[in-house]
Amino acid sequence: MKQKFTSVFTLAFIVLSSFFTVIKPQDKTIESKIDSLLSIMTLDEKIGQLTQLSANSWEFPGKSVISDEQKEAVKKGGVGSFLNLFGAEATRQVQKIAIEQSRLKIPIIFGYDVIHGYKTTFPVPLAEAASWDPEAVEKSSRIQAIEASAAGINWTFAPMVDIARDARWGRIVEGSGEDPYLGSVMAKARVKGFQGNNLADNTSLLACVKHFAGYGAAEGGRDYNTVDISERTLRDIYLRPFKAALDAGAGSFMCSFNEISGVPSSANKHLLTDIFRKEWKADGFILSDWNSIGELVVHGIAANTKEAAKLAITAGVDMDMESGCYKNDLKDLAVGKKISEDVINESARRILRAKYKLGLFDNPYKNCNPELEKTKILTKENIAAALDVAKKSIVLLKNDKNTLPLIKDIKTIAVIGPLAASKADPLGSWEQQGDSNNTVTVLEGVKSKLGSGSKVIYSKGCEIDETGKGGFADAINAAKEADKIILVIGEGGHMSGEAGSRSSLELPGVQEELAKALYETGKPVIAVLMNGRPLAIPWLSQNVPAIVEGWFLGHQAGAAIADVLFGDYNPSGKLPVTFPIATGQVPAYYNHKSTGRPGNDTVVFSSRYKDITPNPLYPFGFGLSYTKFDYSNLTLSANKIKIGEDIKVAVDVKNSGNYDGEEVVQLYVQDIAGSVTRPVKELKRFKKVFLKKGETKKMEFTLTDNDLAFYNIDMKFTVEPGMFKVFAGTNSEELISADFEVTE
Ligand code: NOJ
Repeated sequence: MKQKFTSVFTLAFIVLSSFFTVIKPQDKTIESKIDSLLSIMTLDEKIGQLTQLSANSWEFPGKSVISDEQKEAVKKGGVGSFLNLFGAEATRQVQKIAIEQSRLKIPIIFGYDVIHGYKTTFPVPLAEAASWDPEAVEKSSRIQAIEASAAGINWTFAPMVDIARDARWGRIVEGSGEDPYLGSVMAKARVKGFQGNNLADNTSLLACVKHFAGYGAAEGGRDYNTVDISERTLRDIYLRPFKAALDAGAGSFMCSFNEISGVPSSANKHLLTDIFRKEWKADGFILSDWNSIGELVVHGIAANTKEAAKLAITAGVDMDMESGCYKNDLKDLAVGKKISEDVINESARRILRAKYKLGLFDNPYKNCNPELEKTKILTKENIAAALDVAKKSIVLLKNDKNTLPLIKDIKTIAVIGPLAASKADPLGSWEQQGDSNNTVTVLEGVKSKLGSGSKVIYSKGCEIDETGKGGFADAINAAKEADKIILVIGEGGHMSGEAGSRSSLELPGVQEELAKALYETGKPVIAVLMNGRPLAIPWLSQNVPAIVEGWFLGHQAGAAIADVLFGDYNPSGKLPVTFPIATGQVPAYYNHKSTGRPGNDTVVFSSRYKDITPNPLYPFGFGLSYTKFDYSNLTLSANKIKIGEDIKVAVDVKNSGNYDGEEVVQLYVQDIAGSVTRPVKELKRFKKVFLKKGETKKMEFTLTDNDLAFYNIDMKFTVEPGMFKVFAGTNSEELISADFEVTE
């Protein structure tokens, strides 16, 4: 009886509290303002709100302008948003047309891809995820928002939260890697950073979480390619970071280019309406990707653009980025009663709601102050924050015999490689307004650490992705003269990112041959990698004594890398993605299923390859430090819990090496037997801890039933009774474990 009473009470509480969270007093005011506005808007004006056009700034470098035709459209109320228009003055001029010359004076919302920086360039998102440091990532996004908002921008097309298990896919660089939990933590940090505490603040950017959904599962890792995944995998893996971003308050989403099991996202009612709108109760709006509504025709799901517009709007796409389908076809569809005008009203409402929340109706010029713009961009604090997160993003992959850190009174050091003096590549694929003149190269970083008694010799050696070996001789001479070689190799900044898929994860061009030639000199080679995806580097891994994963770290790349090389910063980053031994191993990810015959190098009839091991080169979560951490005493608060109860996990971590340092303590869980097969392990918690040398700390974690739940055989998100394993350790493979049971 008591239990019944409690559940009735709980139900009433949930109903009431969700009522109050959906309609807050302030929201009521906004909703009634929208009602009034909608009641006087013409159909054309409503469709205008659903239309996003792009400024073609790239045709006029240094200028940010819209065309005369676009200006006329603004006057008629035919544009809800521009993308690619930036700068306080440029946006002010366009906003002025909307406010002073359009009938209803509805402000424009200016969107831009602020992915890892506006002017100050931060590390690419994959690199930042390697910091496993949500505070640092939130701060990075905050500063990006402060800069971009001072330049007229209200809305960023970020965070990109696509899970990527196939490193051939170039866009892996834009997200947080392969893991739904790490991805969710990073998604939340970025949304909080971009949006700040209140969207109406002048420094807040509305976040647009993308690409909804499954984009990272493109077949063969080829961009824009078909995605065919089960509903369970979609929900258990791919949707999790999206939901986390929504829970963190993200105000808009962008749907993806790809189809999911036959239905392109831009026409996917199940995804956009059933899941996003109804199940998740999201009140933000959904933007298409660039021309993704028009591409419904090419996908072969719409016979023409009119059908495409109808499919997209009824599926739940509120705003059309650049395809023109809404602008050209929605009116006919509504007038001809092929769609109800209510659908258009709803979409317009959601977009107007975002504009109200951003405070644009009260102050349409809130981000259009050229004087302020000058003071907010590329400030000392912004640059310092970029350096801080860049250092935290570096992963030490190998360090035999304490090759690193280097001593600062080294006599002669050779800095070699096509990326050693590159100013553009460290900015990655979304450099946006970042000026490569501001980049600190590795060569500059190394020089800054050394005094006049040391000699630095630079040689390029070869190009990143060409076959010429003309530069080898000079590089070998430099190497012969030096005590140590720093070899900076990898991918060009634009070899990953959109349309940046590669069929091979090996080092491009003749870089590995250069590495071999330098190795032959007998001088110690320290490899510094720059790349936007995991690389397959077995030769390097077996032969050179030290490898530093330096991703694309933005403007401060060289300074951050030099701090690590010379021991001014003890590396603490961990891989957010699996590094395979060969391209043929992809998709490669740690949270795979067991199969009936788990891969084993020595068992013929096991899930393995004839020619290589099924194991990765560097596993997810891997990263060394200049010190050493030991794990012991993994204890649980109980060895049996009931469904719904929490369990506490504790583990002792000792810094047993010779330096103070930071460790990312990782906690994984395995559900031993379920109604459907479960991954061999899944990351559920992590904590970064600083330990002085010799120090031990007890690290404590609490797992809730949500951490043990999954979509079971009936597609119910639930915890099933049975045995579980908890693992703790320094990466996804070096772990200690304990067992517990969950009962009904
Ligand atoms: C296409 C990309 O897929 C998306 O991520 C980006 O935000 C838009 N273009 C706008 O630049």
